Amino acid sequence: MSPAVRPRTRAELRAARRPRAHRCWGHLLAAPLWPKYGVNLGTLLRTCDAVGACLVAPPYPWVDDALARGNTLRRPTCVHRTGDPIRWLTSERERGARLLGVELADESIRLGDLPAARGRTVMVLGHEAEGIPEEALDLMDAVVEIPMVGSGMSLNVAVAGSLVLYRLAGLI
Ligand SMILES: C[S@@+](CC[C@H](N)C(=O)[O-])C[C@H]1O[C@@H](n2cnc3c(N)ncnc32)[C@H](O)[C@@H]1O
Repeated sequence: MSPAVRPRTRAELRAARRPRAHRCWGHLLAAPLWPKYGVNLGTLLRTCDAVGACLVAPPYPWVDDALARGNTLRRPTCVHRTGDPIRWLTSERERGARLLGVELADESIRLGDLPAARGRTVMVLGHEAEGIPEEALDLMDAVVEIPMVGSGMSLNVAVAGSLVLYRLAGLI
């Protein structure tokens, strides 16, 4: 008797995907602008590919190497580089993008209430230890929080970013 659930083959998965790698739509941007650990950038890059988002990284010298090592897809991915993060966020706001902070904050909306992104949306993630700096929080149009019931204070930043990206992309 064949099993009720049969995982798809690689050929079936490939047929269901876009024929080409990500074309920059500039619609959904994941912005870990104060990263501490390169491994989290690699994980986020993979989620960006899965949902059709771009990754926005700050100009730290080690970031290129971290992204090259983290790109286990071995295909080109869409990475934008900023200058100063606050100046970049300000210019995104001025050009009409919606800035969405991902942070545990009193004013946050819950992930389950977050609608899919309609226009250009920048999802901003915080530093692994210190979160999103205050002057960046002041620029946000909204902040989203992923509810937790465990004893840990927060999620890994790449896990948090991936959950929010899926929601913004309208895939969950
Ligand atoms: C490890 S957390 C930052 C630590 C936290 N601010 C603190 O002081 O304990 C790193 C980043 O992950 C994201 N994050 C982690 N868990 C989250 C959650 N439950 N809801 C929303 N964002 C979360 C936020 O962007 C946060 O700035």
